[in-house]
Amino acid sequence: MDYEALLEHARAAARPVLGRAAPADYIPALARADPQAFGMALATVDGEVHGVGQWRTPFSVQSVSKLFALALALAHGGTALWRRVGREPSGNPFNSLIQLESEQGIPRNPFINAGALVVTDALLSLTGDARAAVVDFLREETGNPGISIDAAVAASEAGHGHRNAALAHFMASFGNLHNPVDDVLEHYFAHCSIAADCRDLALAGGFLARHGLRADGSRLLSRSDAKRINAVLLTCGTYDAAGEFAYRVGLPGKSGVGGGILAIVPGRGAVCAWSPGLDAVGNSVGATAALEDFTERSDWSVF
Ligand code: DON
Repeated sequence: MDYEALLEHARAAARPVLGRAAPADYIPALARADPQAFGMALATVDGEVHGVGQWRTPFSVQSVSKLFALALALAHGGTALWRRVGREPSGNPFNSLIQLESEQGIPRNPFINAGALVVTDALLSLTGDARAAVVDFLREETGNPGISIDAAVAASEAGHGHRNAALAHFMASFGNLHNPVDDVLEHYFAHCSIAADCRDLALAGGFLARHGLRADGSRLLSRSDAKRINAVLLTCGTYDAAGEFAYRVGLPGKSGVGGGILAIVPGRGAVCAWSPGLDAVGNSVGATAALEDFTERSDWSVF
């Protein structure tokens, strides 16, 4: 398969929409990103890597980190987590408070902010350091010791994190956070603020393409748990646009407001596209266009 040609074609397909949408600005540190920036990389299950554009430029991974936090929480703590967080698409914005009251503080899924706060809380209890657990995992899967938390982004999130604080306090009132709210928020903001590039994320997503096996061949998750995470990614990973993303791209995927989207092709590999301009839901316009082109033209598909 001529991956370079496929990636170049995907990049060309994204070009017309680059600069048409603005980066996230509710976290001020993200607003400075260049809306014209674009990168894309894929990593096969064997660790072969290809990339185009700014695929080695680090960006803020934001909600893409939620997928690693979930995998690690399940790996360390098993399926008890699912008593505290659901597996249904929310149909609401990723930072919505609206369902939490009628659903007694149990978030709809682990990828909306409320769900990721519960996952971070669980990972903090299980490991003693949720932020380090995610950073270490990314470094190990990619062989890149340079992956780290961008302290300026984390501070910017914390300074403007009223909605996440509201979600966390509200869930704490239902007994669905076990650690102090401020600790949970600190670890959550920190893992969202990790800076990594398209290559890093494509490699780090490999365990889901290898049915739970890490880059070194050891097992992180059972085959069944890897299947389940991919399923929840497909239905919930791109929020209230998960249906549209499934229609256009057809892969389990996780987006972040830094403009990255990591998509998984079980048995084949993982592919990450990045461009900072976002649609109204918070998914990257350029990354979605590139992934759509890539899946239309390659045999990297689950359908
Ligand atoms: O909590 C937040 O709002 C951000 N740290 C993450 C949100 C995000 O990336 C949603 N993704 N599209």
